[in-house]
Amino acid sequence: MIENHFDEEIAETYDEDEATHFAASTVDPAVDLLQELAGDGRALELGIGTGRIALPLAARGVPVHGIDLSEAMVRRLEAKPGGANIGVTIGDFATTTVAGEFTLAYLVFNTIMNLTSQQAQVDCFRNAAAHLAPGGRFLIEVGVPDLRRLPPGQLTVPFHVGAEHWGFDTYRPATQYMASHHLHWEDGQARYSVCPFRYVWPAELDLMAQLAGMRLRSRWAGWDRGPFGDDSEQHISVWEKVS
Ligand SMILES: C[S@@+](CC[C@H](N)C(=O)[O-])C[C@H]1O[C@@H](n2cnc3c(N)ncnc32)[C@H](O)[C@@H]1O
Repeated sequence: MIENHFDEEIAETYDEDEATHFAASTVDPAVDLLQELAGDGRALELGIGTGRIALPLAARGVPVHGIDLSEAMVRRLEAKPGGANIGVTIGDFATTTVAGEFTLAYLVFNTIMNLTSQQAQVDCFRNAAAHLAPGGRFLIEVGVPDLRRLPPGQLTVPFHVGAEHWGFDTYRPATQYMASHHLHWEDGQARYSVCPFRYVWPAELDLMAQLAGMRLRSRWAGWDRGPFGDDSEQHISVWEKVS
């Protein structure tokens, strides 16, 4: 049974905690690209959450369906304006199927890493491909593993230390296991949460795509579609279903 790390407590403050990712400067270029890729077809969001991307995409006229494990996150999506127009299936996006065909499947905000085994990540590619029409696209937004910041013997990297939030990643290079630890400070009290991940390299994702009958069409460093290179911290990759 797959674990749900987005329970009621996380869902309650998700939009607030991730406020910078809800800014129009982040969301608009993402939605521009997703709308272009969806064309006249339907879009399937794996890990739809509270609708950060799905709601503005649907507002542009793209029919969006989502899959998510967390009923708490989905309840928040459904309560928002436009939420009632988005169908959501509760389940694991590595294996859950929904009816109909899509021109686009997408998985943003590092969520492929929520699948903590290579097999589950491979299953996810196969599941995405199974929902796509021939020529359909699968898009992933995910960070490049930050292992260059680890000197020998060190396995922890701070990624944010501010007045209200401290965040640390711990890495296990032997297994590609990592975990993000968060401390949110309020009135001198800390709220702790941890989320386990499996980090994954771009080349490994390309191989997963190949196993699922897809080939790489584009890889950019960000939603602005700048070139991906040696120092890119994340990538937006798009594979096309070829068989
Ligand atoms: C970081 S949030 C991203 C939500 C939304 N896509 C966004 O960009 O704001 C990850 C979401 O993926 C969901 N999720 C994680 N692993 C999942 C899985 N194996 N199957 C279905 N949903 C999953 C979580 O419940 C959560 O809603």
